[in-house]
Amino acid sequence: MSEWQGRTAVVTGGGRGFGKAFGTALAMEGAHAVLVDIDGSEAEAAAEEIRAAGGWALGLAGDVTDEARMAEVMARAADAQGGIDLLINNAGLHSDEYGQPITKLGLAKMRRLFDVNVMGVVCCTLAAAPHMQGRAGASIVNISSSAAHMGGSPYGDSKLAVAGLTITFARELGPLGIRVNAISPGLMLTETIRNELPPATMARVKAMQLIDGDGAEEDIVEAMLYLASRRARFVTGEVLRVTGGMAAGV
Ligand SMILES: NC(=O)c1ccc[n+]([C@@H]2O[C@H](COP(=O)([O-])OP(=O)(O)OC[C@H]3O[C@@H](n4cnc5c(N)ncnc54)[C@H](O)[C@@H]3O)[C@@H](O)[C@H]2O)c1
Repeated sequence: MSEWQGRTAVVTGGGRGFGKAFGTALAMEGAHAVLVDIDGSEAEAAAEEIRAAGGWALGLAGDVTDEARMAEVMARAADAQGGIDLLINNAGLHSDEYGQPITKLGLAKMRRLFDVNVMGVVCCTLAAAPHMQGRAGASIVNISSSAAHMGGSPYGDSKLAVAGLTITFARELGPLGIRVNAISPGLMLTETIRNELPPATMARVKAMQLIDGDGAEEDIVEAMLYLASRRARFVTGEVLRVTGGMAAGV
């Protein structure tokens, strides 16, 4: 029997991209997948697809920066099976505009970027942790980025903070039996990336890979399934890079 049978996973940004792929993979393993997205209709549509395929899923609307709403969402998720076993802090802003200089991006957009990418992780972790405490094998997986290791962009700075929070929360929550790890994906051809990343940027980033080929959602799903599983029971406070070698040695 899959270790996910009878366990509950909350995935932020679960309406599309990695988040939807995480929820789908976990539900197909037998987990209850709770997909939270600022776009509630996308979250519900993704959950409906999972249910149609025979899995258990719930789609909920919610902004990860909204403390009161995240408290409601986590309580609702915990209702299903008496707690939460896995939180994936995946929701994030990552369009190309967040790669421009801070002087061009401006304070309001910089603030929203950090609110969603950084404070969203804090908000959801604080809301979920009380429901995770004491659950055997409970863990959190944060989605950082290879941009965190390269430096030089507002987006990368926000994801460097996610890597830092991973270590800090691993320290704080370890004594409660909750492991906290992160994944730093490289260039992964999700729908958003295919539609929004300028071809020149894509070519520049791909040229940094040490192995040929395109990174895909499945590569990040595999990393998540490992970090969240019993196989990683002694792994916490780590950032796993899945980049085709793009960020190797940086
Ligand atoms: N695709 C890549 O190549 C890549 C590489 C490195 C890191 N990442 C990171 O992985 C994560 C997911 O990436 P993706 O490509 O699947 O992105 P995506 O844009 O396809 O999906 C992100 C989802 O998050 C939701 N979201 C945005 N703001 C939110 C908020 N405030 N509250 C709740 N939900 C919100 C969006 O509605 C969307 O459904 C992001 O954190 C991104 O920074 C992606």
